[in-house]
Amino acid sequence: MPDAAPETFYLTTPIYYVNDAPHIGHAYTTVAADVVTRWHRQRQEPVWFLTGTDEHGQKVMRTAEANDVTPQEWADRLVESSWKPVLHTLDALNDDFIRTTQPRHTERVQAFIQDLYTKGEIYAGSYEGPYCVGCEEYKLPGDLIDGTGEYEGQKLCPIHSKPVEMLSEQNYFFKMSAYQDRLLALYEAHPEFVQPASARNEVLAFVKGGLQDLSISRNTFDWGIPIPWDTTHVLYVWFDALLNYATAVGLDSDDPEQQAKFAATWPASVHLVGKDILRFHAVIWPAMLMAAGLPLPKTVFAHGWLLVGGEKMSKSKLTGIAPSQIIDHFGSDAFRYYFMRAIAFGQDGSFSWEDLSARYNAELANGFGNLASRVAAMVGKYYGGVLPQAGPAGPAEQALEQVAAQAVEAAEKAIDALAIHEAINSVWTLVDATNLYLTEQEPWKVAKLDEERDGTAPDATWIQEGRLATVLVTAAEALRSLAVLLHPITPKAAQALWESLGAEEPLGALSVQPVDGAARFGVLPAGTTVTKGASLFPRLEDPVVEGA
Ligand code: MSP
Repeated sequence: MPDAAPETFYLTTPIYYVNDAPHIGHAYTTVAADVVTRWHRQRQEPVWFLTGTDEHGQKVMRTAEANDVTPQEWADRLVESSWKPVLHTLDALNDDFIRTTQPRHTERVQAFIQDLYTKGEIYAGSYEGPYCVGCEEYKLPGDLIDGTGEYEGQKLCPIHSKPVEMLSEQNYFFKMSAYQDRLLALYEAHPEFVQPASARNEVLAFVKGGLQDLSISRNTFDWGIPIPWDTTHVLYVWFDALLNYATAVGLDSDDPEQQAKFAATWPASVHLVGKDILRFHAVIWPAMLMAAGLPLPKTVFAHGWLLVGGEKMSKSKLTGIAPSQIIDHFGSDAFRYYFMRAIAFGQDGSFSWEDLSARYNAELANGFGNLASRVAAMVGKYYGGVLPQAGPAGPAEQALEQVAAQAVEAAEKAIDALAIHEAINSVWTLVDATNLYLTEQEPWKVAKLDEERDGTAPDATWIQEGRLATVLVTAAEALRSLAVLLHPITPKAAQALWESLGAEEPLGALSVQPVDGAARFGVLPAGTTVTKGASLFPRLEDPVVEGA
């Protein structure tokens, strides 16, 4: 029997509302998704990385109205001018970009809900209760907070600090309450379904508190997917949006190619979400899939918020920073590195320009970039840029190779646990150890002694012949490992390093180097051309930040 095809690692970001342009909170999720999927690709696994935009609902409709254009025109404008370009700015390598207004989505969504209706999972009823347009969510009275100041006497959404609106409508309902026990059984049997543990606890407590049926249609506006059996209603935007993860890979498609894609890709391996939208993904979404009889995603991982002044960064609170404000100065590699390393993935974190500058200079410019240029410069100076033949490895070389092996093992585990910050910490043990190795082995002194002893008889000051070559080749091997391990995190710098090591010729493209190959030295052949290119991370002055 041939081996079964390896499973596709399928990861998604939330689809972003097009009511506004992206800020660094949105970019944070996309970068995390890109780092994790690039890591899996580096392992040489099949990967599918989906992102996209959420275009229906009142929030988008009202923004379009306020700008005197149709919602479709507004969505087209924002997608083309902001949401697609930001992926390029962030250096994200998504495989697909879904828009919820695309026919491939709307048609498949209609097929899905028609099926649930036919199965008796949906019924007509009436709804009365508070709704937050910012969240596009029905709230329970207990969720709300009392307004103060201009909102005195009103009930507010705790996330948006804006008044909720009272809804009283005829709606269609999804029988979500029927799934309470099955959901609890899922969380019990698959603790990995909701991560991290704090998120799982929140979801467990919520579902144990009792589930209500969910109103899934609206008939007071028309910017949404029409309900197929009653076109006076449009589908509730979250029901529509959650389905993107399955429609994008071919759910309910008639096309055999799409059906094959679905079979090869579904269920999703990881849905990455901000903690603000955890319940939709960990409660409503699996209940919808259970009702349809479809396999469930393996993991919903909720990361924390980027905070400004202790509050979630958001455009509506005017605390949004555009990714380009940072990337224009520091570059996309530094942006990716900083947010993935400085904030424990799963927890909240505050962004500060000072912290970013300090880490850039200490870790990227002095720690890593400088290491790469020093090694290339020494191979240039002492060997004319041609990697020499190394002598025998001593204890210091073996110890450094051991650090590389441990870094790979620990980083692999951390990526599987979606502890991205820990993976980077592990990789950095090799940066630090290589710097220390050079400080201790002092190749520049070895070179000097080599020069002095030329033509003289051996004596006690002699250093083993070929020692300089051994030290520089070992350092170059550590850099080769680092290029592989940092490729998912800082792709541009890793590629530049790969080129400076001249590794492409003997070893092939950086993208085809497996992660576990980074654990071993002795791979770059003698004779490889090493060149000292431009600094990977030139030292930067602090940025001048407008309004800071
Ligand atoms: N459209 C819905 C998601 C539907 S998914 C089926 C939505 N969109 S959103 O644009 O408002 O936000 C999407 C995601 O952006 C959040 O879940 C989160 O991942 C990210 N973030 C937005 N602001 C953020 C911060 N301040 N900090 C970190 N992430 C943030 O919700």
